[in-house]
Amino acid sequence: MESIDWRNLSFGYVRTDYNVRCYNRDGKWGELEIMSSEYIQLHMAATSLHYGQEAFEGLKAFRGKDNRVRVFRLAENAKRMHNTALGIKMAVVPEDLFRRAVLTAIRLNDRFVPPYGTGASLYIRPLLIGTGAEVGVKPASEYLFMVFVTPVGPYFKEGFKPVDIMVCRDYDRAAPLGTGCYKVGGNYAASLMSLEIAHHKGFSTTLYLDPKEKKYIDEAGPANFFGIRNNCYITPSSKSILPSITNMSLQQLAWDMGMQVECRPVPYDELATFEEAGACGTAAVITPIRKIVDPDINRIFEYCSDGKPGPFSTRLYQKLVSIQNGDEPDPYGWIEHPDA
Ligand code: PLP
Ligand code: COI
Repeated sequence: MESIDWRNLSFGYVRTDYNVRCYNRDGKWGELEIMSSEYIQLHMAATSLHYGQEAFEGLKAFRGKDNRVRVFRLAENAKRMHNTALGIKMAVVPEDLFRRAVLTAIRLNDRFVPPYGTGASLYIRPLLIGTGAEVGVKPASEYLFMVFVTPVGPYFKEGFKPVDIMVCRDYDRAAPLGTGCYKVGGNYAASLMSLEIAHHKGFSTTLYLDPKEKKYIDEAGPANFFGIRNNCYITPSSKSILPSITNMSLQQLAWDMGMQVECRPVPYDELATFEEAGACGTAAVITPIRKIVDPDINRIFEYCSDGKPGPFSTRLYQKLVSIQNGDEPDPYGWIEHPDA
């Protein structure tokens, strides 16, 4: 631990001191348990293993110049996990339990919250799984909710530098009326093949089109997509994408900076009209896009002609990060302090 190189951390797993857990049995949540083991004892017929009853979340905590720790938009992650649980018939984690678990996990691992100014943060991973044994296809009668944390650096090794991404036409991460709007493991399993192909061809990630017609933009790997044109922030609305909390925040910031905001289906051809494009998410923060390559139909869309992030993406990035780090006040009520 003492040798963590905060400035060169990648987005990976680092063991921390504690995780917290809570079981739901007979329809009731028990007490929060604090564990140092990284392992779970699980029944081999647990529904999470066989029928994908698995939901997770991702949020971050940041250390400020004042040394205080700030967690970003915890209540929104609690709400999204609530929706996911309903969507795949799991026990719902009440917001209060979610908050206590996240704040406890941060407090107990305070020494792993990266120092201010390193660009690193503490990634928080809440996980909800069906632990009850079933062989027929049905929801479990027991669940485990747990939270672990790990210090991370940028998701894309480039950091806040433009990346190239590839349109994926042979695979979808979600079905038109499927689970794309929930944060369930199955969506990520479905994305692995296309992700590997994109990586193999030298791209940072994939750009998914709407799975029904392939006419509209869906999202960019583990992040939402946005484009900028004429002082307007444009981002897809779609039933098969994850409602990104970062995207929601950027829409608010863009609006408050005097930009227009449009959240609507974004036709594929509109890619040619954007002045800037980017991917956004907790892990990705804002990752500017330099090039979108669509090898199957031989099209390329280029942004950042000078190789640098565009001015709107840069302003939005700086504003978001300043609020998260506590360099600027948070007028929105997005920040919570685990030490409060
Ligand atoms: N889309 C997908 C598929 C994701 O996995 C994520 C990450 O959570 C996002 C978008 C971005 O969502 P958020 O900003 O809430 O992290
Ligand atoms: C996030 O941005 O929090 C994610 O979950 C992305 C990925 C690591 C799944």
